Amino acid sequence: MVQKIRTAVFPVAGLGTRFLPATKANPKEMLPVVDKPLIQYAAEEAIAAGITELVFVTSSSKRAIEDHFDRNFELESTLQARGKDDLLMEVRNILPKGVSCVYIRQPEALGLGHAVLCAKNVVGNHPFAVILADDLIDDNQEGCLSQMTALYDEHQCSLLGVERIDPNDTEKYGVVKTIAGDAPFGKVEEIVEKPSPDVAPSNLAVVGRYILSPRIFEILENTGKGAGGEIQLTDAIAELLTEEDVLAYEFEGKRYDCGSKLGYLTATVEYALKHPSLKDSFLEYLSTYCLPAKR
Ligand code: UTP
Repeated sequence: MVQKIRTAVFPVAGLGTRFLPATKANPKEMLPVVDKPLIQYAAEEAIAAGITELVFVTSSSKRAIEDHFDRNFELESTLQARGKDDLLMEVRNILPKGVSCVYIRQPEALGLGHAVLCAKNVVGNHPFAVILADDLIDDNQEGCLSQMTALYDEHQCSLLGVERIDPNDTEKYGVVKTIAGDAPFGKVEEIVEKPSPDVAPSNLAVVGRYILSPRIFEILENTGKGAGGEIQLTDAIAELLTEEDVLAYEFEGKRYDCGSKLGYLTATVEYALKHPSLKDSFLEYLSTYCLPAKR
């Protein structure tokens, strides 16, 4: 039977140490790029791909995420009283009708694999998407997850969003070796978490978009600690691909690693330069104050 992807898991329980102290009490996923938090970009990408159930794997310092997707009646009535209808619609319609949210706690930050496992009972025996909100992906036409669900509809197997990285950066990513297929995707033959450049099987890195078969949950239940002492999703995928097909897909779009300060700043500048009401004045600011200094 052909299955559609309707559930997306958002692991948001990481400690965000690269962004401390900003992330001591505030979730990294609530950092705004211009005027929208990272988690909202991720939710919008999922909803555009036909996802109707958003499953957030959270922790004690991430309550703001739950509040963000909930109604705020005091704010809404104030905006209404002040006649700020556009803003009112914006805060009211963060989630369209028919989309629901589930929040699960990851009691301890034991790793991405463990965070995904926490969603097992909610997801059940269905294929599902995983989105890491700190990988912000800008596309010109079709969102990254929409591209992946379309490919899933055709192939009905697990999929990993991948991109070519600087070969010196392999230690920051899960890296795959593929059997060349019809570009832009290929069957994954090998996957390794954070290999050093001298042993990395390629420079094709997994970024924060996955579609996974539910078999991954059973595998994760028996996956021990891997790189960095964490339960790694990559290790479970390595096991999965001995049993089932897993495809690596080079998506169209530009990814920003918003879990790093440089990636976050780059995204902020580039999104500001595209923002309808900001772009002209921001460009003027940049050309007046920044560019001359570089010359
Ligand atoms: P990262 O590797 O970016 O870790 O996790 P992190 O803790 O968020 O950030 P740094 O490296 O300390 O700065 C990748 C994704 O997996 C989630 C994170 O929230 C992020 O979306 N994650 C990671 C969990 O949900 N739980 C974990 O135990 C670890």
